[in-house]
Amino acid sequence: MSDPSTPLLQVEQVRKLFPLKSGGGVLSFGAARRAPMLHAVDGVDLEIGRGESVGLVGESGCGKSTLVRLITRTLDPTGGSIRFRGEDIGGIPASRFARTPQRREVQMVFQDPTDSLNPRHTARDAIAEPLRLLGHLSGQALAARVDEVAGLVQMPRELLGRFPHQLSGGQKARVGIARAVALEPSLLVLDEPTAALDVSVQAVILHLLADLRERLGMSYLFVSHDLNIVRLLCDRVMVMYLGRVVESGPAREVFEAPRHPYTRALLSAIPGLSGGAARRIRLEGDPTSPVDPDPARCRFHGRCPQGRDACTASSPVLQSTGPGHSVACHFPEPG
Ligand SMILES: Nc1ncnc2c1ncn2[C@@H]1O[C@H](COP(=O)(O)OP(=O)(O)OP(=O)(O)O)[C@@H](O)[C@H]1O
Ligand SMILES: [Mg+2]
Repeated sequence: MSDPSTPLLQVEQVRKLFPLKSGGGVLSFGAARRAPMLHAVDGVDLEIGRGESVGLVGESGCGKSTLVRLITRTLDPTGGSIRFRGEDIGGIPASRFARTPQRREVQMVFQDPTDSLNPRHTARDAIAEPLRLLGHLSGQALAARVDEVAGLVQMPRELLGRFPHQLSGGQKARVGIARAVALEPSLLVLDEPTAALDVSVQAVILHLLADLRERLGMSYLFVSHDLNIVRLLCDRVMVMYLGRVVESGPAREVFEAPRHPYTRALLSAIPGLSGGAARRIRLEGDPTSPVDPDPARCRFHGRCPQGRDACTASSPVLQSTGPGHSVACHFPEPG
């Protein structure tokens, strides 16, 4: 048993670079010259405490899903460390992670339940699978546990014999959540879990997720484009921009008084969630390319409303601006 004061998840300076390939799928550069690299995740620190819910936001392509795949160990990091209950899981190759005891403790809920469910498996089979493979249950014990888990996600028993195409979006989402919580993981990683659902169904599923977290005492890493959802569900929020965390802090504080100009712009676009900005802040300019970005300049500089000379001289690192709140900006907004 690890020390209970150790955070559940500790990610330090984790990186994932993808080599860019030529059209033919073969690296187009000679051995002497390094291929250009796409910096999908570039030195991210993250801690999640036991029972804590952390939101991860940022525009499309900033590296949220890549970070999630590193944490759930379906992708191997290029560098940095990932520890779960103090034990290094970042060094275990993704191909071997499935056979570790940590595998059942870190579970994932995917964006589109249709993609993640096997069309030839009934809801019962889908929920039973992790219980059989990782929980080693069979026979009566397995059937009883499937019923129990279906109850947890409020999935009517009479629907368990149905195939995915015979279920609604909301019911498929419940099956996806049931699979993830069946083994009572301590960390649930949710990558846009309701993005594929109708708005009315979204609310019901979010309510279910909030309820399950409380009942099962899980920690959440919650990726969403919807800042209102993050505000409702998360204790803490991390804002990513081009592979890096630009701001991280208590959700209430970040939403009410964002310190990074990118966070301010992001929040200013949400009605009723202006984040201290009186008007919508439109980002002008072109985003920096994620391919071999200049290490000596701030990645947000090209679009930043207040970019100055210092921003092209050195890249800002995350610095504490208050308890649990940090910002990577040379000129943060006053809190
Ligand atoms: N397997 C891969 N090979 C090459 N590049 C990749 C790969 N996976 C992701 N990328 C690139 O890494 C960057 C981050 O992608 P990622 O999917 O993590 O973004 P995201 O924040 O989840 O975006 P979205 O909000 O659209 O889901 C993008 O530039 C993407 O094109
Ligand atoms: Mg994504």
